Amino acid sequence: MDISVFVFLSSSFFLFYFVFSHATDNITGSQFLSDREATTLVSKDGGFALGFFSPGDSTNRYLGIWYNNIPIKTVVWVANRRNPITDSSGVLMVSSSGSLVLLNQNSTVVRLANSTKEAGNSMVQLLDSGNLVLREVHEENPENYLWQSFDYPSDTWLPGMKLGWDLRTGLERRLTAWKSSDDPSPGELSWGIELHNYPEFVMEKGSKMYFRTGPWNGLGFSGVPEVRANAVFNFSFFSNKDEVYFIFNIIQHSVISRSVLNQTQYERYIWDNGKWSLYLHFPRDECDTYNLCGVYGNCIISESPICQCIQGFKPKSANTWIPDEWSKGCVRSTQLSCQDKEKIGFVKFVGYKLPDTTYSWVNQSMNLEECRVKCLNNCSCMAYSNSDIKDGPDGGSGCVIWYGDLIDFKPTAANRQDIYIRMPASEQVKGKQKMKVTVIVVVAIASVFGVLWILYCLCKMTSLRDKMENNVMIDQNIEGQREDLEVPFFSLATIATATNNFSINNKLGEGGFGHVYKGTLTDGQEIAVKRLSQSSVQGLNEFKNEVTLIAKLQHRNLVRLLGYCIEGHETILIYEYMPNRSLDSFIFDQTRAGVLGWSMRFNIICGIARGLLYLHEDSRLRIIHRDLKASNILLDSNMIPKISDFGMAKIFGGDQTEGNTNRVAGTYGYMAPEYAIDGLYSVKSDVFSFGILLLEILSGKKNRGSFHPSHGQNLVGNAWKLWKEGKPLELIDTCLKDSCILLEIVRCLRISFLCLQQHPEDRPNMSSVVMMLHGESSLPEPKEPASFVGKKSSSSRKNQSSSTNEITVTLLEAR
Ligand SMILES: *[C@@H]1O[C@H](CO)[C@@H](O)[C@H](O)[C@H]1NC(C)=O
Ligand SMILES: *[C@@H]1O[C@H](CO)[C@@H](O)[C@H](O)[C@H]1NC(C)=O
Ligand SMILES: *[C@@H]1O[C@H](CO)[C@@H](O)[C@H](O)[C@H]1NC(C)=O
Ligand SMILES: *[C@@H]1O[C@H](CO)[C@@H](O)[C@H](O)[C@H]1NC(C)=O
Ligand SMILES: *[C@@H]1O[C@H](CO)[C@@H](O)[C@H](O)[C@H]1NC(C)=O
Ligand SMILES: *[C@@H]1O[C@H](CO)[C@@H](O)[C@H](O)[C@H]1NC(C)=O
Ligand SMILES: *[C@@H]1O[C@H](CO)[C@@H](O)[C@H](O)[C@H]1NC(C)=O
Repeated sequence: MDISVFVFLSSSFFLFYFVFSHATDNITGSQFLSDREATTLVSKDGGFALGFFSPGDSTNRYLGIWYNNIPIKTVVWVANRRNPITDSSGVLMVSSSGSLVLLNQNSTVVRLANSTKEAGNSMVQLLDSGNLVLREVHEENPENYLWQSFDYPSDTWLPGMKLGWDLRTGLERRLTAWKSSDDPSPGELSWGIELHNYPEFVMEKGSKMYFRTGPWNGLGFSGVPEVRANAVFNFSFFSNKDEVYFIFNIIQHSVISRSVLNQTQYERYIWDNGKWSLYLHFPRDECDTYNLCGVYGNCIISESPICQCIQGFKPKSANTWIPDEWSKGCVRSTQLSCQDKEKIGFVKFVGYKLPDTTYSWVNQSMNLEECRVKCLNNCSCMAYSNSDIKDGPDGGSGCVIWYGDLIDFKPTAANRQDIYIRMPASEQVKGKQKMKVTVIVVVAIASVFGVLWILYCLCKMTSLRDKMENNVMIDQNIEGQREDLEVPFFSLATIATATNNFSINNKLGEGGFGHVYKGTLTDGQEIAVKRLSQSSVQGLNEFKNEVTLIAKLQHRNLVRLLGYCIEGHETILIYEYMPNRSLDSFIFDQTRAGVLGWSMRFNIICGIARGLLYLHEDSRLRIIHRDLKASNILLDSNMIPKISDFGMAKIFGGDQTEGNTNRVAGTYGYMAPEYAIDGLYSVKSDVFSFGILLLEILSGKKNRGSFHPSHGQNLVGNAWKLWKEGKPLELIDTCLKDSCILLEIVRCLRISFLCLQQHPEDRPNMSSVVMMLHGESSLPEPKEPASFVGKKSSSSRKNQSSSTNEITVTLLEAR
């Protein structure tokens, strides 16, 4: 029947229907997509296209989906992986019986979906997510698909795609590598979820296990702790009786990311500066190979041999660890006597990738003690652990226990999950000291490995694709009516009452734009009142425009505008009050610096980075702060940092990424060289300031006016010198020494140098910085940073005034 349909269609009579001249994202019953006519479907936002292609050197034709607006053709899905079409006769259509079929000249190549509803009423549509769906034209629920390509992944995992199982239908969504770059048919390697009691992600080679991530623990996977939600990606794992799947989403819509399984590994890329930059890959090293060291073996990549036995065990093979003998694993040094419970206990192994969960048992509502008792009472139970550490390693919940010998586990840096392994009582005393050493060794290894990995992949993380929506519409003619503004209006009388008539006792400080007072409204709410000095007041309408714009910026790490007041000559802004004042009052103050331990400082650093990322990459506006510094970071009662003082911020609309001014304003010591010298500013000049701020938070010293007594260098110069000499810890604020996590400090220092590069294009953008902070991304080796003093940028200053789609935001400062 399909043959006759095709013959019928290929007559010129029907050509009339399928030659659609404009780009469309859907075809209905009377249309089709044809290779010969080179027609494609393009998703509404233009991100993806569906059409016919030939991979690599092959001449075979395949129907596939690729990124539509990047120059490197990158296919993310193939409809007929196993059934290539050998000529250009391919046609995709909804057949008269309502099925979605791919035909060639003679017959059906693949029937993608059988009809379940009446014919003539279905539509195929390519969605913005890259999902190709078949649905009823008049279906009320737009997500009620008859069929979707996301249910049949090829080698690429797109944001929003579920990987895992639908237990109701038995459908498994699993990635399978291409056989080769010329042949998209399923290769050896696959990546999916293994349905154990405690499900985990696994990579298989053929039918053999190749790599495990370890099970989901509420935060991430114990074997790949660097994969965590951050300000660019969020992840979630769902498991109930109907479905078990993992899904990720991109929060920053300007980012194009690709997760793909190639013939050797799983990798994640980000489209950056006109190329795919590799961010992440598994397996990372030999130690990730499944069960390399056998039962109770401990794989430590820096050791020789890399396979060791965990404490309390010795090698099984007498041939001390010749490579092939590794997988024989380890045996107990002292036999376990099961019956005598007095002689049995558990040794805690801190920060481990959890063992293979094939023989595991889980109860999410048991606590650790109940878990221990359950394990102790069954002789074949060898270990237990919390199944969920969402609330931190000490707030863990749930119980998972392992029966039988433990395989494929190892210490993992940055992982915070612990496991308790059954041991004879005699082993438990020895345990304690040994563990500490192991953890330190592992941390060291991880840093060494990080460096190797970076050398391998010197990806330059500069600006990701700047995809922004169309120009911001700013109504330049808001008329005097205060009701027009979405921000609450406060009367001058209210503010005067709240601040005790602008009493000197309520004054918090003053800046270039006016005085700041603390106030208390009649309902008890505390506010910060910024009374703008009259000389700085610009046009009234401009002021209102800006109030409206800034009020729309809502982010946990930006100080919030509560209201405004315009009365007579007064222009006043009302902000939320920050009881802990600003960051500089802590880090540069000898007595208060001790309050901020490392983990608090690290949280502050990450918070500032997220706030700045929001300003830079928010999908509607691009805002350059231009005056990022410690005194502009306010701290709320929970020490959550809030960026304030948008007095100098520039708002860009459309695709503008760089501006130029002949009124350079900012703070000496934080300004990027190209801005200070040439007046050029961009997101990268903020990144520079962030780099300085980072160094200041780490060192507790001001960049400006911090000259090292012996060699007369400023903070940046001194930091670089210590870094080069391999003594980074000498830079760190002494009061941090007890609380610091070496790995994080070194990472932050490296990030700060990357942010401080002389050339803006060498600095990462904030989405990269956020990912680097969370250890998600590889870190390039920094070149010598611009220490700015005395260095001149080559281009000369242009005398050009602000361009038209840029608005100077003055006056909006809060303290
Ligand atoms: C299908 O495509 C046409 C032509 O591009 C478009 O006008 C229509 O809105 C699309 N239908 C849906 C449901 O998006
Ligand atoms: C179509 O059928 C003809 C005759 O059976 C055969 O020679 C030809 O190779 C077929 N073409 C394709 C693309 O399968
Ligand atoms: C469609 O139906 C045919 C015949 O019943 C079956 O062989 C095929 O597997 C079905 N295809 C899909 C995609 O469900
Ligand atoms: C992840 O982010 C997307 C986009 O912001 C959001 O729609 C989704 O609900 C988030 N998912 C989770 C689990 O937080
Ligand atoms: C898979 O990707 C990695 C990293 O990009 C590359 O080194 C490797 O050669 C690729 N494997 C194949 C078979 O293409
Ligand atoms: C899980 O543990 C809780 C609390 O101990 C218990 O009430 C429940 O019966 C257990 N569930 C299973 C399936 O064992
Ligand atoms: C211990 O657990 C195993 C595995 O679940 C089970 O087969 C066995 O019966 C249990 N033994 C006891 C004594 O409960």
